[in-house]
Amino acid sequence: MSKDARTGSQSARVEIGVEQLARLSERLSREHALPLSSYRNNCIQRRLSTRIRSLGLYSLDQYLDLLDADPSEEKKLIDALTISVSSFFRDPETFSFLARKVVPEILAWSGKYDSRVNVWSAGCSTGEEAYSLAIIFCEASEEFRNKNRLRIWATDIDEEALALAREGFYRKDKMTNLSTAQIERYFITSGKGFKVRPELKSLVEFRKENILAPVFNGFEGLDMVICRNLLIYLEKNEQMRLLEKFERSLRQGGFLVLGKTEFLREQLRGSFEHISLSERIYRKSSRALSAGRAGGKR
Ligand SMILES: C[S@@+](CC[C@H](N)C(=O)[O-])C[C@H]1O[C@@H](n2cnc3c(N)ncnc32)[C@H](O)[C@@H]1O
Repeated sequence: MSKDARTGSQSARVEIGVEQLARLSERLSREHALPLSSYRNNCIQRRLSTRIRSLGLYSLDQYLDLLDADPSEEKKLIDALTISVSSFFRDPETFSFLARKVVPEILAWSGKYDSRVNVWSAGCSTGEEAYSLAIIFCEASEEFRNKNRLRIWATDIDEEALALAREGFYRKDKMTNLSTAQIERYFITSGKGFKVRPELKSLVEFRKENILAPVFNGFEGLDMVICRNLLIYLEKNEQMRLLEKFERSLRQGGFLVLGKTEFLREQLRGSFEHISLSERIYRKSSRALSAGRAGGKR
């Protein structure tokens, strides 16, 4: 076998040389603080091959030439490397658990300290996760329909996904996990789909952030961090760094919610207690290394 890693079918084989891959990684690291080595190799190879083939090219060498000639391709590559599948109330049992057990606790805390609830949806993609959270908070208490009482920070690196999230328009087939009552209450019919009502939208602030970038420190004093279906694409060391960022962003007693196939890494087990093993919900414990300030500045 040659030094080149080869991917794709025989008819549309894409040559991805080790040196060329290192050059691309160095470029993305320099320009966007996004080294390819942060992500699992098989995932990168697959997404990169698909992007190269879609442009009618057959090697990473050719693609690097194209990147030199057309700088706008870099942004398209980043969007192509990140997988943006999402849905409302994805894994409904997780959201049901949050609504029954977690939101009431956060509600009690915010009542006790008269503080605004702050939540971070990290890797929010096209916005369904952040809007689903906004809905369960609004259903728990009328007071959360006010942006001075609830703020959801929703971040992603993918600009196209963020534009769709901000627009808040979803086709009918995307509305499957929402009840008729929820659709009537939180959406307005619009053409072949539905638009998120402005009141719900005002609770969510979408921001472009590369959460892996060392210059991005996350937030402070959050009540909840939800990061689902992103860690699975990352290498182990990068997962650990990101989980530490989440830990520092939470107040003591704040909740961390991961995807169904994602785990807290061993080194952080002492900083969190399990709330639900099956739903991957954890609470930052008083033994955590960073204290995390409640209601801190951001
Ligand atoms: C599969 S989606 C998950 C969406 C949502 N959390 C869910 O579970 O339905 C993963 C998201 O992570 C985002 N992502 C990947 N790497 C990122 C990075 N370095 N910084 C910010 N977002 C990133 C992708 O753009 C994508 O939208």
